Amino acid sequence: MGKPNIKTIGVLTSGGDAPGMNAALRAVARTAWARGIDVKGIYRGYSGLLNDEIFDMEKEFTCDIISRGGTALFTARCEEFKQLEYQEKAAEILRSHNIDGLVVIGGDGSFRGAQKLSAQGINTVALPGTIDLDIACTEYTIGFDTAVNTAMQAIDKIRDSSTSHERCSIIEVMGRNAGYIALWCGMATGAEDILIPESFDGNLPKVEQQIIEHLLRNRAKGKTHHMVINAEGVGHSYSMAKRIESATGIETRATILGHMQRGGSPTAKDRVYASMMGAYAVDLLCAGKTNRVVGYQNGRFMDMDIDEGLAMTKDIDEYQLQIAHLLGK
Ligand code: ADP
Ligand code: F6P
Repeated sequence: MGKPNIKTIGVLTSGGDAPGMNAALRAVARTAWARGIDVKGIYRGYSGLLNDEIFDMEKEFTCDIISRGGTALFTARCEEFKQLEYQEKAAEILRSHNIDGLVVIGGDGSFRGAQKLSAQGINTVALPGTIDLDIACTEYTIGFDTAVNTAMQAIDKIRDSSTSHERCSIIEVMGRNAGYIALWCGMATGAEDILIPESFDGNLPKVEQQIIEHLLRNRAKGKTHHMVINAEGVGHSYSMAKRIESATGIETRATILGHMQRGGSPTAKDRVYASMMGAYAVDLLCAGKTNRVVGYQNGRFMDMDIDEGLAMTKDIDEYQLQIAHLLGK
């Protein structure tokens, strides 16, 4: 691998926003400046890149953002970027701005874009920014910790109301196809039932029957609430609530937490890990690396080839799932 003398680094955020993205982009910029490298910000992910929404980043842009959720660079999804001609165009635009290193902060979809830009000769490093924790090559993704804490606090509040009314509550959390947010929230709030896509066989009536039996057993023992954490994609929470209520006669309400899980001030963990990853990305580019993804494994920040990272698969921790169920019995 050659060792290019990087002079200008570009940075963009792509896909769903995640708390901590600001800390990451701030660290990219400030580490680059400390290494004598100029920084260009790219607004609105690959969409902004294709529209040439590129600006010279100044120190001021990175001030007072570490504590803010969202992303100061805005973010977007861009279908056309999946086509080769747009990837070629993007690489041309980057070259026209003399950007010789690019940091992409986003989820695994965004990694594929980074991979394609690498193939176009742009030195590219990707950082895992997603609340879903659904990236196989890393045990940590920017935003997950904050999202879980945000959801946990909301669920605690719903539980107060649920207990007061002696109701059953179904709370739907995000995660796309992954159940990490649901599993963590379920365990952290002592939920009675946790539904995640990884262990859902598609048989919703069976799952609902199990909840109904569990709810009735608990009621017979005098338990005054019943919290069900439902990962998005496992049944429709409002209709599940209606069916459970009519089968048990116990008032049941559904709450979909939605995008509030993506917002809010990042936790210390998200600020610190995102900062470390941002700095790491710049140092990889300075070392002449490209097509790399930064991750966190076995207590250390590390990097690997994006192709290798994207080829990996990740399973839910079966033991954690078993214990979460056991503790909610
Ligand atoms: P995330 O990055 O959070 O997983 P998406 O899956 O929506 O979010 O991907 C974000 C963006 O990454 C997409 O809108 C698209 O611009 C780009 N992208 C996704 N898949 C590819 C691909 N196969 N090739 C090129 N770019 C892609
Ligand atoms: O990937 C983050 C995420 O919030 C998922 O948990 C969710 O499925 C999806 O994005 C929602 O996307 P949108 O912001 O387009 O509604």
